[in-house]
Amino acid sequence: MKVLVTGCAGFIGSSIARKHIGLGDAVIGADCFTTYYDLQQKRSNLCDIVEKFDYFHDRDLLLTDLDALLSDVDVVYHQAGQPGVRKSWGADFEEYTANNVRLTQMLLEAAKRSTRLSRFVYASSSSVYGDSESYPTDEGMLPRPMSPYGVTKLAAEHLATLYAKNYGVPTVSLRYFTVYGPRQRPDMAFHRFIRAHLNGEELQVYGDGTQIRDFTFVDDVVEANIAAANSNCVPGTVINVAGGSSVSVNRILELIGEISGRAPRISNVDKIAGDVYRTGGSIERAQKTLGWTPRVSIEDGLRLEFDWLKNL
Ligand code: UGA
Repeated sequence: MKVLVTGCAGFIGSSIARKHIGLGDAVIGADCFTTYYDLQQKRSNLCDIVEKFDYFHDRDLLLTDLDALLSDVDVVYHQAGQPGVRKSWGADFEEYTANNVRLTQMLLEAAKRSTRLSRFVYASSSSVYGDSESYPTDEGMLPRPMSPYGVTKLAAEHLATLYAKNYGVPTVSLRYFTVYGPRQRPDMAFHRFIRAHLNGEELQVYGDGTQIRDFTFVDDVVEANIAAANSNCVPGTVINVAGGSSVSVNRILELIGEISGRAPRISNVDKIAGDVYRTGGSIERAQKTLGWTPRVSIEDGLRLEFDWLKNL
C-alpha cells in the first residue's frame, strides 16, 4: 500500500506518517513548511522519519502537478492547511481560503481522475459546528461555524462530500475535536500553558476559563485515520473524532498544577473573537462505522504532552 500524507511536517500529519512508516507502508510526504509557526518544530517533527519517506515533496501543493503526485497512491490523508481559529480574521483570511478550500478542491480534482485511489481522508474540524444546539453534538446537526477558519474547513468538507456524491471520490471527512499530545502546535492552548508554566511565566487564559473542549489525544486521532482509510463506509461520510473528555480550560489548569506539583500563575485576558464556548462530539457514528473509540484519558494524555515539552 502507498499513502500520501499532505501536511506531513505538521502535528497530526507527522503522526500519521510515522504510524504508516512503522507499519512498513510506502509513504509519500508533502509539506511546504509554511511559516505559521516555528519551522524548527516542523523539522523536529520529521527528524526520525524524513529519511524513510518513499518520496518527500517539499513544494507548495497549489503549484504542483497533483495528478502525477497521486498517480500510484492508494490512500490520501489530507492534513495540510492553514490552522488556527483565532488568526483567521482580516487579511489573513486569504491564506485560509487558498490553503484550506482551493487546495482541497485541487486534490479532489486529482482524486477524481485517479484510477487507483481507494480512500481520501479529509481532516475536518469541530469548528464547523460553532456553538452547537445540543451536546454531544452529532454529525446531523446544522453546522454553523463561528470563525472564518471554521467556514473554510466546512467549505472544504462540503467539497469532499460533493465530489463523493457526483464523481464517487471515496472521501471520508473526520471532524477532529481539539487535538493535543506530543508535537502539538505551539499556538494551541496546552502547548502554550505548559511552556509558560515550565518557564515560570503566567498562563494566559482567554476569558474566564469556563469554556469547554472535547480534547482528543493525537494517537487516538491517528487510529481514527487508519480506521477511516480501511473502512468501506459510503463515500462522502462525515465522522466526529472526539476524545470523550469534555473539560473546561480551568480544569486543565488544575491538572497542570497536579502534574507539575506547583500551582500555575494565571492571567485572564479578553476572550478572542471566533472562540466557541463549548465543543463535545457524539462518537456513536465513529464507533459504528469505524469501530473506533478514544483510548487515552485527558489525565494520561496531558501528562504525555507535559513530559514531551519538559524534555525538549
Ligand atoms: C483547535 C485547533 O487550533 C484548530 O485547528 C482545530 O480545528 C480546532 O481545535 C477544532 O477542534 O476544531 P481550539 O479549540 O481553539 O482550536 O484549541 P486550543 O488552541 O487548544 O484552545 C482551547 C481553548 O483554550 C480555547 O477556548 C482557547 O480560547 C483557550 N486558550 C488557548 C487560552 O485560554 N489561552 C491560550 O493561550 C490558548
